[in-house]
Amino acid sequence: MEYFSTTTGAARRSCGCLIVGVYMNGKLGIAAADIDAASGGLLSKLIKQGDLSGSIGDCNILPDIDGVRAQRVAIVGLGAKAQFDVRAYRRAIAAATRAIKSSKSKDVVNYLSLEEAGDASLYYRVRYSIESIGNELYSFTQMKSARKKAHTSIRKIGHAVATRAQAAQAARAAEHADAIVGGMSLCRDLGNLPGNVCTPSYLARTAQQMAKQHKNLSARALNETEMKRHKMGALLSVTAGTREPAKLIVMQYKGKPRAKPIVLVGKGVTFDSGGISLKPGAAMDEMKFDMCGAASVIGAMETVAKLQLPINLTVLVPTVENMPGSAATKPGDIVTSMSGQTIEVLNTDAEGRLILCDALTYAKRFNPQLVVDVATLTGACVIALGHHRTAVMSQSDTLAREVLDAGISADDRAWQLPIAEEYSKQLQSNFADFANIGGRDAGAITAACFLAKFADGINWAHLDIAGTAWLSGAKKGASGRPVPLLSELCLIHAGAIK
Ligand code: BES
Ligand code: MN
Ligand code: ZN
Repeated sequence: MEYFSTTTGAARRSCGCLIVGVYMNGKLGIAAADIDAASGGLLSKLIKQGDLSGSIGDCNILPDIDGVRAQRVAIVGLGAKAQFDVRAYRRAIAAATRAIKSSKSKDVVNYLSLEEAGDASLYYRVRYSIESIGNELYSFTQMKSARKKAHTSIRKIGHAVATRAQAAQAARAAEHADAIVGGMSLCRDLGNLPGNVCTPSYLARTAQQMAKQHKNLSARALNETEMKRHKMGALLSVTAGTREPAKLIVMQYKGKPRAKPIVLVGKGVTFDSGGISLKPGAAMDEMKFDMCGAASVIGAMETVAKLQLPINLTVLVPTVENMPGSAATKPGDIVTSMSGQTIEVLNTDAEGRLILCDALTYAKRFNPQLVVDVATLTGACVIALGHHRTAVMSQSDTLAREVLDAGISADDRAWQLPIAEEYSKQLQSNFADFANIGGRDAGAITAACFLAKFADGINWAHLDIAGTAWLSGAKKGASGRPVPLLSELCLIHAGAIK
């Protein structure tokens, strides 16, 4: 995709399709007013007739308007002007993209970037626009026999800016957004691939191929023999029931000499059957998404490496398949983690924390400035926050705040839940140092408390993305979240957002 910005008024801009907006009650957006004037009041007339709607999400495409150079104009409803915030802005652009993508337009110029949207700066308006368009154009067809290629003719996306001085900001936003869309698309592809294709070995190969494509990026994967040597007994206990070899993927991007790295750890359970504590059959297929934490940190790495940001970033992916079998770990088994702490496995379906805890211990050797783990860790998180907010938990309120703020500015929001001793007590075990489950109450929090036992001495936060990583129902598929949040964190650390 190519990007550009323009200061030319909407009516005089030649291109395949323009995007302009009308608010509820017939109020025209800035570019719509320009089109209206140039066409002798066409839009006003259509609104009066009831043929153009200002309802958010509605979109009409008008071709060949007299007095307008563009071949088509997509007129999208923006809702009430007083309520026009970032969410409305993105919904309008997504609706316009859905309407335009099957038209023959090769280049599209979005004039909604001229509108005020909440308190988003021009940089963020352009970024959100490209991210929304990119996510709407995404399609996953690689497992269809027809191998249909994505059916859009859009090759260039432009944004209207008010002054020439804003062109540089728009260009920077486009560069960042394009890299974020790339990271999200990779994340979604990995998430959408089935468990029989996207195995731990597949993820490891993906990481190694990425390292060949980017400067300053290396990738390797520890095998089970090496894990045994590191005494990663918790991680290894999860892979005991499967024939798929487990991997611990290590990706290192070096963009700043001698700086402490940011370390991102992603849960990579390529299929979670529950193990001996087998899950019920309903919607069990969705447990192929149990590697979306891994996919999101690999996606964030793709964004950072593409942008060649001046930071150091390490991505760790413990990846396994969780299956029952005669060699599988059983409820009541006690395993010794790399940290030396012993764990009573009361439920083999609480496997994410078992692979993450050894990865967190391993993370310490990179002398990180901060560690964020990302995991589809608990069904309880979905009960607590639903599908709209990622849960963030940290013993450092400063780091939690940093993550929350990155989520707000990236428009990929999180919400903090506590970590505290009272909850930690629920993990007590009669036989080992502690158990891997803490009962039904506050399940997302006790999972974080478990991880906290392996994170002492590090600046660490945990993201539970069980509710946000994928959509169910008719729109079933990976969402690409929280790649925007993680990328934002890296962009901020790189000083790339001014
Ligand atoms: N991968 C699941 C969590 C999950 C469940 C994510 C449903 C999204 C939707 C995780 O490994 C798991 O099974 N967690 C258990 C923990 C319990 C046994 C303490 C859960 O949440 O039920
Ligand atoms: Mn599980
Ligand atoms: Zn799981």
